[in-house]
Parts: sequence; C-alpha cells; structure tokens
Amino acid sequence: MMTIHLTETANALVASDNGLLAMDESNPTCNKRFAAHGIPQTEERRRAYRELIVTSPELSECISGVILYDETIRQQLTDGTPFAKSLDALGISPGIKVDTGAKNLAGHPGEKITEGLDGLRERLAEYAQMGARFAKWRAVIAINDSLPSRACIEANAHSLARYAALCQEAGLVPVVEPEVIMDGSHSLKRCAEVTQEVLRTVFDQLCDQGVSLEAMILKPNMILPGLLCPEQPSLDEVADATVNCLLRTVPAAVPGIAFLSGGQSPELASARLRAINIGGKSRAPWALTFSFARAIQQPALELWNGNDSNVNEAQQELLHRARCNQAARQGKRETEMERVST
Ligand code: 13P
Repeated sequence: MMTIHLTETANALVASDNGLLAMDESNPTCNKRFAAHGIPQTEERRRAYRELIVTSPELSECISGVILYDETIRQQLTDGTPFAKSLDALGISPGIKVDTGAKNLAGHPGEKITEGLDGLRERLAEYAQMGARFAKWRAVIAINDSLPSRACIEANAHSLARYAALCQEAGLVPVVEPEVIMDGSHSLKRCAEVTQEVLRTVFDQLCDQGVSLEAMILKPNMILPGLLCPEQPSLDEVADATVNCLLRTVPAAVPGIAFLSGGQSPELASARLRAINIGGKSRAPWALTFSFARAIQQPALELWNGNDSNVNEAQQELLHRARCNQAARQGKRETEMERVST
C-alpha cells in the first residue's frame, strides 16, 4: 500500500515536463550567497527570500516539487501559512533536505562523507508530519589524479542507500543525489568513468538495502569535464556522454532522473538539459528532468538583492528560468533570450 503511494508520488514529481526546484541551502550556504551580494544574513531575510520563491506566480505550471531546508519547513509566509502547506495548496509537493552535510572522510584527505543517519528515523517522521512528501540526501565525490577512493564511493553509496530505505519506511520518496563535482581539470571521459563507477555502486547498495527503485528519484551530475579542463565539449558531446553513462548504470524501474546544476551557468544548464532530452528521450526509459538550485535561483537572487521592492522582478526572472528548463525537457527553447548556441 505504502509503496503504491510512494510510486505515485515519485511519478508525479517527474510528470508533465515539470521539474524540481531546490531551495534547501543550509543556513551557512544561504548566508554565503547573501554575503556575496551584501544581503543581511538573518533568519528573517532568509525567510523573505524563500517566500519570494514559493509565491512566484504560475510556479506550479513548471515546478512539481520544491526542496526545503529544516529552517524553512518550520517557517511561515507573511500571512502565517506554513511553507509546506502553501506549496501543497498550489499542487507542488514539499520536499526536505535531510542530510546534515558533507564532512571530512577519516583517513582520506580531500574526500567527504555525508552525515545525518543518526536519529534520521525520528526526523523523517517529524518532517512527514509537517507535510513533506519527499526527501533529499547529497553525497559529494571529488575527482583528481588519485581520487575518488573506493572507500569514499562505498561509504557514500552505503549511506545513500540506508537513507533511502529509511525514507521509504517513513512514507517519503528519496531523492538520491551522488554528485561528482566539477572542481578540477579532469576530462569529460574521466568524469564519465567515475560517475559510472559511483552509480553502479549506489544501485548495488540500494538493491542490498531493499530500496524500491520505482519509488525513488536519482539526482546525478551531468557528465562534464572539470571547470579547469582546457577542452570544453559541445552540447551534443555532453548529452551523448550523459545519456550513455545513465543507460549503462540506472535501472529502467527508476521513474525519473533529475539533474543537479552543479555550478553551471543557468543558460548552459538549460541548453545541456535540452540537448540531453533531444538526444536521449527516445532511448531513455526514465524521465530526464531538472532539480536545480543555482541554475534557477541565481539571477532572481541577484535581482532581489535583499530589497523587497524588487520582489516582482525577481519572481519573473525565477519563473523564466523554470520555464526555460521545462522547455528544455520538451527539447525546445523558452524564448529567443537564451543565448547559448547549439
Ligand atoms: P545546484 O543545482 O546549485 O547544483 O544544487 C542542486 C542541489 O540540490 C545540491 O544539493
């Protein structure tokens, strides 16, 4: 019974060419983004910014789920409505980030292990009671000449799988996010090899832990070279490498793959999502969608700049980015304003 309900939620999250909007930055990360624009780093400004996002008109036409952070799911809009309730009323599923961050992995300099399993069963029950329908856990995998280690891949895959099993037990759809990060000078090929190994290990662990693949969403990186790599590929090369890697590693039972943006510019993230759908849709058994944070929020954050008189303009920009990504899922461009050539 529970699994049917979870499968329906997972399918709804990736339906109708919609995608997910991640606004689950931890307080330190949100403060860092505010500091870069001179925005006061207070609980009230974080709340006001999150209110701007969730009250953007027509958001539900392109966004099926929004990922919240612990502080936000406990906050209310100015009119007193809790964030989760206001999203629900719009037909947008509220989600919640439940990991407690990536910490240094003992004995493995330069590598991270994501924590948060202690007490997770109790926290998930509370979030479900507050209205969350799905959850997110992000693991971070770095590449350099000698990384990642098997220790890092296995530890993170195991944690992701234990998190996912606990989510399903609590009636929440797990979004499983193993992110191979873009820092460094590695090639596209190396990112493909590492991501392939990571995803194979993650799905092995998910199966070992008894996670229902029909009732989860995978949130991976696109296959991209490091930011410092001198050779930057075309959109088609990224799309090909990404779809090939996923076809080799992700079981067809998974309903959807929702990419993170990982620090790509908003325009490039949309253009690559579009190329992935054009090149991959006919071959892919899963929906290929987005779960972006920076690539949807960043231009709106800059327009808002902490000033409430800029709310309308910022909301229009947020909606524009969301619509660009919805159009990308359909293999289209939203407007002529998109400048990235294909
Ligand atoms: P970005 O799209 O900014 O990479 O964030 C996605 C996310 O949710 C990271 O956990």
